[in-house]
Amino acid sequence: MPRILDGKKIAQNLKDQLKIEIENIKIKSNRVPGLAVIQVGNVAASSVYVKAKTKAAKEVGIDVIDHHLVESVNQDDLINLINQLNNNDDVNGILVQLPLPKTINEEVVLNSIAPEKDADGFHPLNVGKLSISQKNDESLMIPCTPYGCLLLLRELNINLAGKNAVVIGRSNIVGKPMAQLLLKESCTVTTVHSKTINIESICKKADILIAAIGKPEFVNKDWVKEGAIIIDVGINRIKINEEKSKLVGDVLFSEVEHKVSAISPVPGGVGPMTIACLLRNTTAAFKLKFID
Ligand code: GUN
Repeated sequence: MPRILDGKKIAQNLKDQLKIEIENIKIKSNRVPGLAVIQVGNVAASSVYVKAKTKAAKEVGIDVIDHHLVESVNQDDLINLINQLNNNDDVNGILVQLPLPKTINEEVVLNSIAPEKDADGFHPLNVGKLSISQKNDESLMIPCTPYGCLLLLRELNINLAGKNAVVIGRSNIVGKPMAQLLLKESCTVTTVHSKTINIESICKKADILIAAIGKPEFVNKDWVKEGAIIIDVGINRIKINEEKSKLVGDVLFSEVEHKVSAISPVPGGVGPMTIACLLRNTTAAFKLKFID
């Protein structure tokens, strides 16, 4: 039987630790970390994620300011809001939920977030730092989903160095930073994507396979090596019948689980870890400003 990487439990442990840390911070400094969450428009999945992030932040004692803007908001108005938050000492982390409406230039918006408040690690300065920094740099704002994947891998207590890691997907949010993190762990890293030739045979050589494609149950047993470790980043809602739907990952769990040594489930794998890492980044940003 494979080890099931219980993201819900591991994330809860991380949140419990953060809660204690924030209580101590409050005693010492009479302040608590603050997180500003900005959502533009009403993409259903974004609303679910924003709600979950806000709830989790409050649970650990982070002050949350929610800004829900209409879809038609002007880009300059959005940037003005971000500038105000950049200059507000009560705000230590700023998160702009993606995707943004097509009328808004995502790159310009992400660039306007102060790098030291960039709780998502999407600002170019943080992207660059991730690629050149030393392994355990506390000041790094690491993108939350790949960071969560790395923490799941660390739970296995195995030496990652030299392992053949394959990342499926090359997004700025997951695939690219994930590859950087694995490289930092001294894995041999390959990134594959929609244009890769022989994608299946490359994945089959992976000791560690990270699936972040966004296609429901795409990776089946023929893609995975016996004994591999699988991290499933996908969160896809599929219809079971006219009334019912369910969440599945990018990996066909029921088939793959019999072949692998460890696998993260969906739901309850990477998702909760992403949220816990956001809270970690916000707390780290606070500590860098007020404690360290
Ligand atoms: N959209 C999908 N994943 C993410 C994420 O990790 N952060 C933000 N801000 N938006 C997202």
